[in-house]
Amino acid sequence: MMMRAALIRRYGSPDVVKIGDAPKPLPAAGEVLIRVHATTVNRTDCGELRPGVIGRLFFGLSRPRRTIFGFDFAGVVEAVGAEVTAFKPGDRVFGMCPSRSNGAHADYVCVPESGAIALMPANARFEDAVVCEGAYYADSGLKRFHVGPGHKILIYGASGAIGSSAVQLAKAYGAEVTAVVPTRHLELARSLGADRVIDCSAEDFSRIGERFDFVFEAVGKTSYFRYRRLLKPAGTFMATDVGPWGQYLPLLLWSAIAKNNRVLVPLPPPGGGHAFVAFLKARMEAGQFRAVIDRTYPLEAIAEAYRYVETGQKAGIVVIEVAAADPL
Ligand SMILES: NC(=O)c1ccc[n+]([C@@H]2O[C@H](COP(=O)([O-])OP(=O)(O)OC[C@H]3O[C@@H](n4cnc5c(N)ncnc54)[C@H](OP(=O)(O)O)[C@@H]3O)[C@@H](O)[C@H]2O)c1
Repeated sequence: MMMRAALIRRYGSPDVVKIGDAPKPLPAAGEVLIRVHATTVNRTDCGELRPGVIGRLFFGLSRPRRTIFGFDFAGVVEAVGAEVTAFKPGDRVFGMCPSRSNGAHADYVCVPESGAIALMPANARFEDAVVCEGAYYADSGLKRFHVGPGHKILIYGASGAIGSSAVQLAKAYGAEVTAVVPTRHLELARSLGADRVIDCSAEDFSRIGERFDFVFEAVGKTSYFRYRRLLKPAGTFMATDVGPWGQYLPLLLWSAIAKNNRVLVPLPPPGGGHAFVAFLKARMEAGQFRAVIDRTYPLEAIAEAYRYVETGQKAGIVVIEVAAADPL
């Protein structure tokens, strides 16, 4: 049996992403076959499409090892492999695909039952549930900070997938949140619950006269030296990217060698996806986390979605609708 998929057989611009037929996967023992209803194109997909030298060591030297990308999925269980006990056909599920096997930019995907998968949050639409990847990086960062009540955190770039998630989750952990965004995202940052919102297009955020326990740089755009004066003496800096001219890399190295944990990256813990998706479902059901959806494209127009995400201008997530609209 065949299915529709966005196929990527070589690296390059979004022009190499072609809609075509691929074999429908069969669930092996311990795997769940999902009819995909929604997925996303995110910055990780874009990085995998045009990897640098280090990226190629992970994704495949001359061409991509896997031909179907896509991490976040939401859909309905179609079948389960032997030994699967937690899910059954007809269950509405969401989560993240493993990065080494084919992903969710297709009609069907298989994921391990032990992986990053959970039943959908109550009353959520499929497009509202494809939020895990950015939220996973955000939460991994907040956990490395050990954010909690009484802490003050500044989140720079609070409009991206990671930044918008970090604002909501830091509030859920009880921290006092200052969000820094360009003018057009001020309302968004307020609506996510930030205690204070700074317009970085209109004022110098590094001179607001406050000090923070944590600074979370969620877009990798600004020199570390501008953040230094915002940190308390024992404060910690974290970035989701290598920063301008890769300047956060030597700082990370210094921090690792000195074992002082002053500069960190939000690396998710190995095998932590399963627990995280269950945690995010609980936050969504408690009204503490919601999807920020910028645009929605049908699977047929996925190359357009890649082009848009590559601009670095999306707010939250860009959804790919794979199956007919959700009845909810
Ligand atoms: N999402 C992922 O899966 C993932 C995983 C690992 C690492 N990363 C890295 O993490 C970073 C963030 O990714 P993301 O997906 O969360 O967001 P993103 O797609 O990079 O979104 C960026 C957001 O930040 C805003 N922004 C851009 N330049 C800015 C600046 N100079 N100052 C303040 N805000 C600015 C943009 O607003 P405007 O359009 O108004 O400029 C946009 O809303 C990227 O560098 C990415 O490579 C992402």
